[in-house]
Parts: sequence; structure tokens; C-alpha cells
Amino acid sequence: MSDAALDVVEFVLTTSVYSDDRTLDENDLPPSYRQVFWTGGSESSDDTDERRRAGISRPLSATNSTAREATGVDRPWEAISGLMFTDRDEFSGTITLTQEEMAEQWFVDRVDDERLLENPTLAKHFAAHDEYDVDVSHEAAREQNRPIQADRVWIDGLLEEYFDDEDDEEMLDLVDVRAPEEVDVTLDDLVLTEGQEAEIDKIAKAIEHRDYLAEIGLREIGKLLFVGPPGTGKTSTAQALAQDMDLPFVEVKLSMITSQYLGETAKNVDKTFEVAKRLSPCILFIDEFDFVAKTRRSDEHAALKRAVNTLLKSIDNISLIQDDVLLIGATNHPDQLDAAAWRRFDEIVNFPKPDYNMRADILRVITRQMRIDEFDPELIAEATEGLTGSDLRMVLREAVLEALTEDRTMLTQDDLLNAVEEFEERDNLKNMDMIEGDHEALVAGGDVGKASDGSGHSHDHDHDHDHDH
Ligand SMILES: Nc1ncnc2c1ncn2[C@@H]1O[C@H](COP(=O)(O)OP(=O)(O)OP(=O)(O)O)[C@@H](O)[C@H]1O
Ligand SMILES: [Mg+2]
Repeated sequence: MSDAALDVVEFVLTTSVYSDDRTLDENDLPPSYRQVFWTGGSESSDDTDERRRAGISRPLSATNSTAREATGVDRPWEAISGLMFTDRDEFSGTITLTQEEMAEQWFVDRVDDERLLENPTLAKHFAAHDEYDVDVSHEAAREQNRPIQADRVWIDGLLEEYFDDEDDEEMLDLVDVRAPEEVDVTLDDLVLTEGQEAEIDKIAKAIEHRDYLAEIGLREIGKLLFVGPPGTGKTSTAQALAQDMDLPFVEVKLSMITSQYLGETAKNVDKTFEVAKRLSPCILFIDEFDFVAKTRRSDEHAALKRAVNTLLKSIDNISLIQDDVLLIGATNHPDQLDAAAWRRFDEIVNFPKPDYNMRADILRVITRQMRIDEFDPELIAEATEGLTGSDLRMVLREAVLEALTEDRTMLTQDDLLNAVEEFEERDNLKNMDMIEGDHEALVAGGDVGKASDGSGHSHDHDHDHDHDH
């Protein structure tokens, strides 16, 4: 029997069991099934009670199209039409099991416990019937299943519920919510210092044992501040954590606070935290945190100050232990944070520029999918003192593009070294004063000027390159 048949039978069985057992809820369905049956909420009148709550309603109907969407099998009915216990209603297209017990036996004979654990609905059903002799528990399956709160459909439903009128349009500029499935960085992609790894382990333990921490009265845990120069992996690490722990990633962009609708901002900050609490467990990431301190100091617009004060108060009122929200702030300018902002974080995580060994490791990670002849990451690491992870990425991109101009997808160590040189020239340019300076680069034909044209390469340069080979 093909895997397709197994997948479709699992789906049909699940819809049938779920429809009958009213004690099951959304978190008993595998994420790919939930997505199919999810219906968004509707906001009708001002009276919130009259809103139809978003959710999954019974009965779940198994048809070709729902089965296809949930399992990815192209022709679901064809995959199982040969089995004795299946039937399809020509008129409605509904696929049913004529002999439920036979179908169950057929299914359970073909799957192992590990697979059953991926489907809490069936795990519960089979565990409750001794004759099937499976060694799974409903609780274990539920624990392992991704919670509905991490699904895109659920997040969208919630955002709509909160921000449905036009006034709230700009709110969506201030906050960006990503489902863990939409985050594409993983911890494997990042090279972390020992200190960073230790902090991550610590916070993972704290999350795991938050009941215990609440019990002993330790509530001031779970607010991290990532400190370090641009491009050292602060945002990526926060995202990778969300991905790793299967948590929604809620990002607040503080610079957006200054948008034209200043009067609304304090309210929006409040809403953001409310959303985070409703989405919990989740990670709330606040980038550019130094912005807070800046506005408190200067004589800024009163509405802006109010917004920032609301933000600080909201931070005080949110807790990993009570609300299941892990707060991560990030800043390039720790020196600008005042004591009031600083003391709100219980752990400060340092993101330094990578040292020699880290640079070599980062180079290995970012070149994993590339083919490079005579690749020597240590040698490149030696030549890239002072560069960040983000800089190294840029160097690699440069090398790849440069090779493509020669129609090559196989890179060489020389390509990388040339790209490093190019990067450094660019960097010099960045530090130059274009008005006052009488540097030779300001005159066309100067050596450094090469990097300044739009494409990043002058014709001359390509020429030089040819001679190298
Ligand atoms: N330690 C690292 N290991 C692997 N990749 C890294 C590392 N540091 C940075 N990068 C890469 O550099 C890019 C930029 O990193 P990121 O945006 O996380 O930096 P940041 O610290 O948030 O910078 P900024 O302060 O400008 O927001 C990402 O693509 C990331 O993968
Ligand atoms: Mg960042």
C-alpha cells in the first residue's frame, strides 16, 4: 500500500473521530489539518458577544479537496478507493469509512507509535482501545503537537479581531507577527559565543520550569537585552529562538512610533502587549531599544513621551512566568540607555564582533550550500578582522556575483579574497567625508572609486580580473 493511502486514511479517520468526540479541541489536530478547517471570526456589531469566534467547527468533512489540502496527496480518493472500507458519496463528494473498525485496524497495523504521536486525536482514540496495543498517550501527543497559537491562521484571526477598523491600519506598521513556520533562520545557522549559548540554555530551562518558578515566587525572569554592534546576529538569534521553540515572533519596530498618528501611539503600544499576551506563549522582540532612552531625555513631543512611558509600563506588567511572553530587547547603543530602561532587563546578552575562530565558523556555515575550490575558511578569517557576521555574508554575496559575471557557479578561494578586498574598499568609502575631504578617491579614476559606481564594479576591474586567470 502506498504512503498516500495511509495519509488519506489517517485524515478521514481523524475527521471522523474528531467529529464524534466533543472533548477534543483544535490542539488535537495536526497543524496541516487545522489549516483546512479553520474559519476566521467575523466581527458583526459593536457588541463583542455577538462576534462569531474564529475556530474549527464540527463536523469535519473529508472530501477530495479537504483531504488534498491536509495531506498533500494529489488524488486522495483514488489513493484509497481500492480499500474495502472506504466509500465516496458521488453527490456531495464526501469520503467516508464504511467499516470504521476495519479501517482502524488497517491503519494501526501500518503506523508506528512515533507517527501516532503526531496526531493527538488518533493517539487518544487508539490509546483508549486496548485491542490495538499501542504504546502512546494522549498527553504526550498533545505536548508534542504545535499549539494552534503558533499557526498563521490563528494569528491572522487574532490580529483581525484586535485591529479591524481603519484607525488601526498604522498599527500593523508598528508590530509584525510571524508564525514560527515563517521564520527561516535556525539556531544551526548561527555561530554563537559560549556566553550566548549559556543564556539561551538558561532561558529555555526557565520556560520549561515556569510553573516551578511561579511557585517559589521568582517572577522577574524572562526579559533579555541583546547588546552589540550592527550585524552581529541579534535579530537572527531572537528569530531562531522563536523557530526553535515553536513560538510566534512578535516584533515591535520602535522607530514606527514616530509615525504621523502620534496621538494613537500610546494606545497602540498597549494593544501590542495585549496581542502578545493573547498570542502567548510567544517572543516579543523590541528592536532599537535605545530609542526609548533618547525620547525620555530630549524634549520630544509630549505624545511621544507618553507612548514611551506606556511602553516601559507595559514591559513592567508583562512576565514570562505569568503571561508566557519572553521579552527580548535589542540595541546598538547600550551607552544611551538610562538606568530606568536598563534595569528592566534581567539578563544582558553581549553580541560582540566575532573573533577569529567565530569568523571561520560563520564562513563555514554561510558557505554550506556553495561550492568553493580550495576553500580555506581560516585564511579568510585571518583577513577579515573586525568584520561581523553580516559583513561576511556581504563578502560572500560579492564573491558569488563576481563569479557569475564570468559564468561560474564554482567559486575559488581567490574570489573570496578579492571580495574581502572589495569589501574593505567599500568600508573606507563609508568613513570618508565627501564634502571636506580632498581624498584621491573623490576624483574619478582613483583606486577606491571603483566601488562607488552603482554596480560596484567598473569595466577596468573586470579586466584586471581576467588577467588573474
Ligand atoms: N554569529 C553569526 N552567525 C551566523 N550568521 C550571522 C552571525 N551574526 C550575523 N549573522 C548574519 O548576518 C545577518 C545580519 O544579522 P542580524 O540582522 O541578526 O544582525 P543584528 O545584530 O540584528 O543587526 P542590527 O543591529 O543591524 O539589527 C544575518 O543574515 C545573520 O544570519
Ligand atoms: Mg537587528
